[in-house]
Amino acid sequence: MPGQRSTLVSIVRHEKEPMVELMRAAVYHRYGGPEVLEIERIPRPRLRPGKLIVRVLATSVNGGELLARAGAVRFMAALQPGFPKRVGLDFVGVVDEVGEGVASSQVGEIVWGQSRLDAAAEYIEASTDRVFRIPAGLDPIRAAALPAVGTTAITALERHARLRPGERVLIRGGAGGVGSAAVQLAHAAGAHVTALASQRVAVQVEALGADVVHDYRATTAEQLGTFDVIFDTTFTDLESFRRRLAPGGCVVTVTFDHHHIPRSLAYIALSARHHHQRVRFFSGNPKQELFQRLTTLVEQGHIAPVVDTVYPLEDIAAAHAHAERGGTVGKIIVAVTDPTRKEQTS
Ligand SMILES: NC(=O)c1ccc[n+]([C@@H]2O[C@H](COP(=O)([O-])OP(=O)(O)OC[C@H]3O[C@@H](n4cnc5c(N)ncnc54)[C@H](OP(=O)(O)O)[C@@H]3O)[C@@H](O)[C@H]2O)c1
Repeated sequence: MPGQRSTLVSIVRHEKEPMVELMRAAVYHRYGGPEVLEIERIPRPRLRPGKLIVRVLATSVNGGELLARAGAVRFMAALQPGFPKRVGLDFVGVVDEVGEGVASSQVGEIVWGQSRLDAAAEYIEASTDRVFRIPAGLDPIRAAALPAVGTTAITALERHARLRPGERVLIRGGAGGVGSAAVQLAHAAGAHVTALASQRVAVQVEALGADVVHDYRATTAEQLGTFDVIFDTTFTDLESFRRRLAPGGCVVTVTFDHHHIPRSLAYIALSARHHHQRVRFFSGNPKQELFQRLTTLVEQGHIAPVVDTVYPLEDIAAAHAHAERGGTVGKIIVAVTDPTRKEQTS
């Protein structure tokens, strides 16, 4: 119901603003390693017309935000000018307040979505056109493994590559967050799936649906066959892999060389000269229909969260350090608030 709310937060009195409700959030005041992350009490977002306030149950660690925190992709600073900055792209949470004019969401509903990089906090503001209910029966903490990577895999394989049953697909980074979702989705689409991943985790990638797994450290593009679709999450040696495309095939990448961003973008643009073998790139900005598609795919049993480790919000620096070490399978989750907590409706 619009205006309805159910919160348990600190309330303090400030001189200019009579009542400021505070919440715990992960912030950083300078670029650097994981140690720059701190948990602070900051003002809780206030409900605005047309918006939702979501109590965050869990978020996850994404590659892009590691780079942003390290200051390696400063153009991302445009999203959050100045310091302190926030982290946490994915979210799964309970709708806590519903703004005026919102008819599609209800207090108490558990939704997933992608935030404005502020979901490592007890509460966020969310837009109704960018959330959808989580799949029935899915553990809400584990669910936080899927919003960004699941919608990325759907966009890459269903919308850009238009993957068809029987096609041969290569997934570079098959054990990663995006790759582990893509392997499952490609398998469910009836494709023949080859994955490049660390040898150590090959069995786990096979269990996700890969027909063949090659050790990425010991395999060159030239040692592989040809593919109708190459889905790249690494951007390394992309030109050698593009040559492994069958006629009419396509490469879809979701990343670039962050040391050479203009050169990477020029390479992608110039690849259009190869017409049917061009490299396609997109930057995910998923809307509700993609989260709805993700919910459907989970409920149909075609894709499931792949969770490597769950950290509490207080240990978010350790979660980032773990992600930076690599060697993970799937996602690192950050659990924010307790899913069993009973709401108090006032
Ligand atoms: N454009 C978008 O919308 C979008 C959305 C999501 C993510 N992304 C980007 O996509 C990239 C991947 O994200 P992610 O979350 O999947 O990262 P991730 O979880 O760190 O996974 C990357 C995986 O790639 C493996 N790998 C590293 N080098 C490789 C190589 N040369 N060949 C094959 N595999 C290799 C890693 O294995 P080891 O750890 O064993 O080395 C790891 O399993 C990041 O750059 C991220 O920013 C873009």
